[in-house]
Amino acid sequence: MNPTFIITFAPFKYQKTMSTIILGIESSCDDTSAAVIKDGYLLSNVVSSQAVHEAYGGVVPELASRAHQQNIVPVVHEALKRAGVTKEELSAVAFTRGPGLMGSLLVGVSFAKGFARSLDIPMIDVNHLTGHVLAHFIKVEGEENKQPGFPFLCLLVSGGNSQIVLVKAYNDMEILGQTIDDAAGEAIDKCSKVMGLGYPGGPIIDKLARQGNPKAFTFSKPHIPGLDYSFSGLKTSFLYSLRDWMKDDPDFIEHHKVDLAASLEATIVDILMDKLRKAAKQYKINEVAVAGGVSANNGLRNAFREHAEKYGWKIFIPKFSYTTDNAAMIAITGYMKYLDKDFCSMELPAYSRVTL
Ligand code: KG4
Repeated sequence: MNPTFIITFAPFKYQKTMSTIILGIESSCDDTSAAVIKDGYLLSNVVSSQAVHEAYGGVVPELASRAHQQNIVPVVHEALKRAGVTKEELSAVAFTRGPGLMGSLLVGVSFAKGFARSLDIPMIDVNHLTGHVLAHFIKVEGEENKQPGFPFLCLLVSGGNSQIVLVKAYNDMEILGQTIDDAAGEAIDKCSKVMGLGYPGGPIIDKLARQGNPKAFTFSKPHIPGLDYSFSGLKTSFLYSLRDWMKDDPDFIEHHKVDLAASLEATIVDILMDKLRKAAKQYKINEVAVAGGVSANNGLRNAFREHAEKYGWKIFIPKFSYTTDNAAMIAITGYMKYLDKDFCSMELPAYSRVTL
């Protein structure tokens, strides 16, 4: 048993144990997740994805909140069980405060507040986007030195964001460039919808692209100054090109599915990497990470590997389980904030929109 003493000036039971054990809770969109991190090492990461949205071709906020309510208790229970940790051993509860769907966030935030209060332990609020970036700091036995060193660049690409982030410290990040309209994931999802594929489109396009020719078709690329991105023009170019091609061949999509997917993916990856290369050169940084849902994309991962070879980048590609929404990234961020005693109050509201 670890020696435990209680610091009495804290408004809650701040346990100074030999080990720091953080429960992370994530409920910002359509995944209910809980994870346990002990001294930076992951003990469990349970994710319950909501299949209910598939029939609608997108996330239905009201259904997401209801599903979170049903899932949150069993998911937390399972995470503690798999970690072999009792709730009394927890040092703190970290939760996603935002950004995300308000109804979904409220379920996680309310649960975290009640849980922390009942155990009399600190609460730690986590920005979901920060969590994606800091997932790279989840320790792996024997690979502790494989984490990025500050400062590094992180390409944060998801359904709602496309950003180049300069990470100066775990709690000091600067957005160097971001999309001025659609996010990369949003563009992939919308184009896949136009092709009549399922939801979400990202993994489907990724799978089809593996069999296609990335040079079969060309789509327009944006000309945006600086390090910002734009993907709405590509979406329109994709739509109009299909419309023209289908005049001659109504089954054009079916006949060229894999080549369309490969060409679309290659265009998006090129757009992302062009600006990232520019940022790396401008800021003279060669440690480059990728994070967020789109970082699961094989074309993007390969482009990172090619850049490592060609430009000498030291790259950091997350495990697939950390690319989609997960509580492990919330727990590791909570762990880092815990070491700085960066706790939050019970009154803290959720926020649906916020930047890093
Ligand atoms: O980070 P995330 O899970 O959710 C948020 O947007 O916060 O990202 C979801 C996005 C979706 O647009 C989805 O289509 C995309 O990530 N995505 C992918 C892949 N897996 C998920 N895009 C391309 N290739 C993939 N393998």
